[in-house]
Order: sequence, then C-alpha cells, then structure tokens
Amino acid sequence: MTDLRPDSAPAIGPGAHLLVTGGAGFIGSELVRQLLARRDGTRVTVLDKLTYAGNRANLAEVEADAGQAARFTFVQGDIADPSIVGPLAAEADAIINVAAETHVDRSILDPEAFLRTGVIGVHVLLEAVRGETERARRGGREHAPRFLQVSTDEVYGEVSEGRSTETDALAPRSPYAAAKASGELLVSAYAITFGLDTVVTRGSNTYGPHQHPEKLIPLFTTNALGGHPLPMYGDGMQIRDWLHVSDHAAGIDFVLRHGVTGEAYNVAGGTELPNREVIGRLLAATGRDWSLVRTVPDRPGHDRRYAMDGSKLAALGWRPRVDFADGLPATVAWYRDNPDWIASAKSGDWDAYYARQYGDRLAAGRAVDRTA
Ligand code: NAD
Ligand code: DAU
Repeated sequence: MTDLRPDSAPAIGPGAHLLVTGGAGFIGSELVRQLLARRDGTRVTVLDKLTYAGNRANLAEVEADAGQAARFTFVQGDIADPSIVGPLAAEADAIINVAAETHVDRSILDPEAFLRTGVIGVHVLLEAVRGETERARRGGREHAPRFLQVSTDEVYGEVSEGRSTETDALAPRSPYAAAKASGELLVSAYAITFGLDTVVTRGSNTYGPHQHPEKLIPLFTTNALGGHPLPMYGDGMQIRDWLHVSDHAAGIDFVLRHGVTGEAYNVAGGTELPNREVIGRLLAATGRDWSLVRTVPDRPGHDRRYAMDGSKLAALGWRPRVDFADGLPATVAWYRDNPDWIASAKSGDWDAYYARQYGDRLAAGRAVDRTA
C-alpha cells in the first residue's frame, strides 16, 4: 500500500501562522492567550461563529496588548462555510479545530447544531486541508498544514472500571459525544485515505475562568454567589476527571508540536471526583451551605463516570500542572470578580434556556440528603 502521509510533518515553531477555530470560546481563548504570550513571532487567526457560547471579550487581553494584537486576526464565520475556510487554510501552517457545540444538555434538547458543526464543519475543514496538502505535493506551498482536532473523553462513553486508553473503541452515548466521535472518525478517515497530517486530543472535564455558566462549575458558582438553587442531577455520584483550562490548552499546544501524525492523545486531568465532592468544595469556596442544593431529575443517558489514562502523553513529557485544590478556589474568585462577564454570558437566550432546562426540574427538586 502506498503511504500517502507527508514525508516530514512541518515543525510548528517560532513564526508559525496558526488558525484557531472556536478561539472566542472557553478553551480556545485560553489557547490563543498562551500562543501569543510566547512572543516568538507566532501569528494567530481566530475563526469563530460567535454562537451564544463565543464571546469576543474572552480575547480582550490579547487585543489590548499592542505586541500581541499585531500578530492576531479575528474572523467571524462558520467552519461549515467553505468560502470562509478555504482562504484561511491557504495561509495557515496548522489548523487547530476547537470549534464545537459543547453542552451535553443542549445536545439533548436540540441535537442538529451539534451535527452541523461537529460533522459538516469538520468535513469542510478537512476538505480545505486536503486541498492545501495536494497543493504542497504539487510544489505550490512549502508544507502541508497540520490539522489538530480537539476532541473529548466523552467519545469513549461511560467507563465503569479502569481508564480509557487511546486504542479503546469509541462508544459515545449523547448526541454531543456522537457528534464529537463522528468528527474524529472523519479525521482518521482523511488521514488514512488522503495522507493528511492530523493529530487528535481527547481532553477531560475542563474548568477555569471564562467558561460559559451552563456547565457545572460556573453554573453552581454563579448561582451560589447569587443565592440561587443549585440543581444537582440525580444522586450526584457521577464521576468526572477535572483538568484546568490552562493545562488543557497547554496539552493541545504540546500535541500540536510533538504529536505523531495520525495519533490521538488523552489529555487527562488526573483528578477524579464525584459531583457531590465538587459541589461541597464549591460551597466552601463561595461561603454557602447545602441548603441551596436541590436534587433534581437526572440528565437522560447520564454517563456515570469518565476516566482516562494519560500515560501516552506523559511518556512524551507532558503532564498537567494545576492542582484542583488551587484551581477551584481561584476559579470561584474569578467569577466573583467578573460580574459583567457573567451578565453578558447570561444574556441572549439564557433565560429561555434556563427555564426549559431547569424549570420543571427545580419544581420537582428536593433537598439533598447529605447522608446518602
Ligand atoms: P465553548 O462552548 O466555550 O466554545 C466553543 C466555541 O466555538 C465558541 O466560541 C463558539 O462561538 C465556537 N463555534 C461553535 N460553532 C462554531 C462554528 N460552526 N464555526 C465557528 N465557530 C463555532 O467550548 P469549550 O468548552 O471551550 O470547548 C472547546 C472544545 O474542546 C470543543 O471542541 C469541545 O468539544 C472540547 N472539549 C471541551 C471540554 C470541556 O470540558 N469544556 C473537555 C474536552 C473537550
Ligand atoms: O468530559 C468532557 C466534557 O465535559 C466536554 O467534552 C463537554 O464539552 C463538557 O460540557 C463536559 O461535559 P459534562 O456533561 O461532563 O459537563 P457538565 O458541566 O455539563 O456536567 C458535569 C457533571 O455535572 C455531569 O455529571 C452532570 C452534572 N450536572 C451538570 C449540570 C449542568 C449537574 O448535576 N447539574 C447541572 O446543572
């Protein structure tokens, strides 16, 4: 069989031009901040649709710094639009696809947008990379662009025992996770069939500043700060592995530079906790008590546990740095100090979403039995 892969992947070094899709979101904006803070000549173009989850204010720090702003371009647009993606791919040494619809509960309410961005959007990006790879083979550009797909531990599905390794089968269980797994399958199909230079990261549950308040930690933090009820799904004994956003972004950057073509890498947090434990620590950090917490009807198909083995990336020399015991109170402090950011995130369709997701649940909610 002919090996179509590029002879040598381009080194992503100083002066590289990187296209970051979804760069106005939680993880994408942290990645952009880290890339430009290197001050090594790296240029970054962000392509972001600015959905309800995208926020230009997340990039304010970069845009306020003259040295960084000179190497930064923002384009508002959809990754599923080939007329926008094509010219941007032609200029990029690498494309890091962070863009996605990301909230599991919204994927249960309205799955379609997840498929459009997670399947068609990824396909459009891969077609652009395919075109640029063929152009490089014809001598029209020096190197084919590298494509990094940001994926998630949710593609492995629920893990009752042990920890997922990169060779485990994908077994997604929510529309969100199925869209992410579909995106990954497209990436590996394009790598094998067309010889694209691709890598995939699978990150675990991420927390930190700038996360949209629909997710557990920012929702419970902002509700607790405001004295509003905290809707805990079911018995609250579901387990997640927590990873600070600065570590997640650093892991993506590490794989971009050191990952082997065609491979996937778990970016594991190494801090597995049941939701009840996370909620207890949040209450302590916000100065509230369990009387605010309500046990409400569970998320349909709720995955009981995610857990990943991070040894493949550790063997390359990468591991997370932020301890959850430090990262959680610092995150709570960030939300306490940024009421304008919270107000902007809880604008638009927020009230309608909140009523749809939590109205009936909170009405049926009960006080939590802390001895259970
Ligand atoms: P987010 O919801 O905060 O941000 C997503 C960004 O993508 C937003 O800025 C949004 O405007 C943009 N976007 C959405 N659809 C788009 C489209 N069609 N075209 C262009 N831009 C679009 O998400 P996040 O939590 O930062 O997650 C980023 C990535 O990391 C996602 O791919 C997600 O699946 C993955 N991930 C997230 C976590 C987590 O815990 N947050 C964990 C593992 C993996
Ligand atoms: O595991 C990685 C994934 O983590 C990412 O791929 C997703 O983009 C991200 O949203 C996150 O998914 P989760 O479903 O694990 O995160 P979420 O914050 O929605 O929920 C975390 C846990 O908290 C989960 O067990 C459900 C529970 N939960 C969540 C919410 C929003 C509640 O009990 N009540 C809530 O209101």
